[in-house]
Amino acid sequence: MKKTFLFALTLSMALMAHADDITVSTPNTTLLLNAQTGQPLRVSYYGSRVTRPAEVYDAYSLWEEAYPAFGRGCLDITALSVKHFDGNMSTELEVTGHEQTVDGNSHLFTIHMKDKVYDLNVDVCYRAWQNADVIETWQTITNNEKKPITLLQYASGFMPMRRGNVWASHMHGTWAGEAELTEEPLNEGQLVVQALNGTRNAFNNRGEMMFSLDGRPEENRGRTIGAVIEWSGNYKFRVDTRSESVHRLVVGIDEEHSAYHLAKGQSFTTPAVAFAYSTEGKGGVSRAYHRWARLNGKVHNGQALRKMLLNSWEGVYMNVNQQGMEEMMDGIKDLGGELFVMDDGWFGTKYRRTEDDKALGDWKTDTLKLPQGVPALVKAAKDRGLKFGIWIEPEMCNNRSELYDAHPEWVVCHPKRQPQTGRGGTQLVLDLSNPKVQDFVFGIVDGLMQENPELYYIKWDCNMDINTFGSSYLTADNQSHLYVDYQLGLRKVLERIRAKYPDLVIQACASGGGRVSYGVMPYFDEFWVSDNTDAVQRLFLQWSSSHFYPANAMAQHVSASPNHQTGRVIPLKFRFDVASTGRLGMEMQPKHFSPQEREFAIKAIQTYKDVIRPIVQLGDLYRILSPYDHTGYSSQVYINEQKTEGVFFAYKYIHYINMPKPRFHFAGLNPNATYTLTELNRQAQGRAHWEGKQFTGKFLMDDGIELDLGGQYGSIVISLRQQ
Ligand code: GLA
Repeated sequence: MKKTFLFALTLSMALMAHADDITVSTPNTTLLLNAQTGQPLRVSYYGSRVTRPAEVYDAYSLWEEAYPAFGRGCLDITALSVKHFDGNMSTELEVTGHEQTVDGNSHLFTIHMKDKVYDLNVDVCYRAWQNADVIETWQTITNNEKKPITLLQYASGFMPMRRGNVWASHMHGTWAGEAELTEEPLNEGQLVVQALNGTRNAFNNRGEMMFSLDGRPEENRGRTIGAVIEWSGNYKFRVDTRSESVHRLVVGIDEEHSAYHLAKGQSFTTPAVAFAYSTEGKGGVSRAYHRWARLNGKVHNGQALRKMLLNSWEGVYMNVNQQGMEEMMDGIKDLGGELFVMDDGWFGTKYRRTEDDKALGDWKTDTLKLPQGVPALVKAAKDRGLKFGIWIEPEMCNNRSELYDAHPEWVVCHPKRQPQTGRGGTQLVLDLSNPKVQDFVFGIVDGLMQENPELYYIKWDCNMDINTFGSSYLTADNQSHLYVDYQLGLRKVLERIRAKYPDLVIQACASGGGRVSYGVMPYFDEFWVSDNTDAVQRLFLQWSSSHFYPANAMAQHVSASPNHQTGRVIPLKFRFDVASTGRLGMEMQPKHFSPQEREFAIKAIQTYKDVIRPIVQLGDLYRILSPYDHTGYSSQVYINEQKTEGVFFAYKYIHYINMPKPRFHFAGLNPNATYTLTELNRQAQGRAHWEGKQFTGKFLMDDGIELDLGGQYGSIVISLRQQ
C-alpha cells in the first residue's frame, strides 16, 4: 500500500514539474532533468531527442535523483557520501539555482546544489555536444563548512535505465589478451566493473560499458546507452538492480581506499562520465564516441591522419645499435613507410638497458650502443625522408638505476615498507603525487625535445601497477589520496607537455593496451592496442576496442610469422588486412621478407596510404559480422561522411569442411547511391565475380553479396566508390 502511495505521489509531483525542466539535448538525444529550487535534482528521461517534455511525463518515464547522496533514502545506491566537519555522515542536497551557457560546440548546464543544513556546495554539470550525440556529466564539490570534510564517495555520474530485457557489454582481460568482450543480461543484484591497478586502468577491466535496452546487443539495431569514464585511475561502474522499474548505474572514481579530504574552501572536481545514446545499436553508440573523440580533442589531434611506421621492438627487442637502427630505417623507407620508432633498449650508462631489470629512470643514451646519441638517429631518419620516434617509460624506475640510488624516496611505497617489485624483479613506480617527481617526468620529454627539436613521436610506456600502497610525499592524514593524486600528478605533467609540444605525436602504451582510457587520450594521439600482434587475436582485440575508440587512435602492427606471442603462422596478406583497420604499422625485420612478400608489402602500404587511410582513420565504422559470434568470419566497413566512398573488410579465421558460408551484408551506405566495387590487396589469380561491378547501396545492405574467402586466413578488402 505504502509503496503504491509513494509511487503515485512521486509521479504526481513529476507531472507538475515542467516549469523547472532542463532539456539537455544533442542533435539526436535528450536528457531531461528537473531542477526545482529546494528539491533534489531529478532525471526523468534519457533517449531520442524530445521537443515536448510534457510527453515524457504523460508517458510516465523516470523520476530519479540525478546525483543521489548518502544519508536519506539509505537503501538506494548513491553517488556521493560526505563526512561533514562535525562528523555527520548524512547529506541532503537541494537545488539552489541553475544556468546554461554555450561553450563552442557544446551547451553547458550547471545546476547549483547545496546541503539543506551544511555549507557543502555541489555543482552538477552537463555538457551536451552539438557535433556528436554525447552528454558528459561531472561535479564540483566545494567545502564551505567550518572545518575539513571527507569525501567517502564522489562518483561522477548516475543514470537510471528502465528495466526490461537490458543487456550489459563490458570488457576484461590481461596482458596480450586485453578487452575480451562480455555480454550478459542485467539480473537482480549488482554488476561491478572496477579498476584496482592504480596506474594503467585498462589493464584488466575497461572503463567503458554499453547497455542494450531492447535485448541481446546488436550492432546496428536497438536502443543503446554507452557510459565512459574520463579518468585514468581506479574507477568503479556499479549497476544496481533491485527495484521493479529501474536499473541504477553509478560511475566514478573508485572510492575504496581513497577517502579524500577537503580543507575549508577547497573544491574537488570529479572526472566526467560521457554518456551516449543511439537507436542504431552498439554501432550507433560507437560512432557517437568516435565522432565526439575526433572532433572535440578527446583523442589528441583527433582529426589528423596518422603516419605509417616501423617500430623496432619485435624486430630487435633490446639489441638496439646504430647500424641495426639504420638498417631498419632503410627497410621501412624501401617499403614506403613514413616514420621509424626506436623502442626499448637505447639508454643507461652506469646501469645499461641490456635487460629489462635495469636503467629505467636513467634517460641518457647508452653510448656503447649508440655512440652519437639520439641526434644522429633523428638525422639518419631525416636523410631518408623519414620521421623519427623513441620509446620511454617515464613514470617508472628500476631499483638498479642511478635515479633510485639518488632518490629511493621517489617511489610509490610507504616509508615503513619495502616496495614490491615488478618487471625484471626490479621495476618500481615513481610517486607522481610528488611535484618533484612531476618535474622530473616532464623533464624527460622536455630534455629529449630540447636536444632533438625534430623528434616526431614518443611511445610512452607504463609497465607496472601500484602494488605497494603508500607515499613518502603525502602526509600521514592524506595517504588515502595516493590513487587520485597520482593521476592528478600525471595529468599535470601531460598538460605541461601538451602546452609546450602540441604537435609531438605520443602513443599511450602500458604493457600493450593497459592504458586505453579517455582519461589520458586527450593528451595521446593513439594507443598500442596490445602486445599481442597475432592477427587472429587482433581481430578480437580490435573489434572490442573499436566499441569506444576511433580507428586513428588504434595502433595496429604487422609482425613476423610465426607470431612471437602465439607461434601462429599467418599469411602476410591476412596480417596486413587485419592491421589496416587502424593506424597501420609494422613491428618486425623488413629485411626478412621474401621478394614476393616485399612486393606485396610495398603495394599494400601504398594502397593503405592512398585509399584506405583517409576512410578508415576518419570515417564511420559499421561493424557487421562479429568474431565473437565464433562463426569463423568477421567483417566491418568504414564509410566517409558523405557516404560516397567506403572500405569493406572480411576475414575468415577458421576453416573446416562443410562450413556454413555467410552472405556478406554491408551497412551504413546510401541506399539510393550506386557503388562500384574494387578489390584491394588482391593476391589470388583472376578477378572476383563482383570486381568492377556496380551495386546500389540498398542491394548491398539488404541482400549483400557472396565472397569467396578461400580457406583459413582468407581475407578480402573492397573499395566502394559512388558513381
Ligand atoms: C612493453 C610494451 C612493448 C615494448 C616493451 C619494451 O611491454 O608494451 O610494446 O615497448 O614494453 O620493453
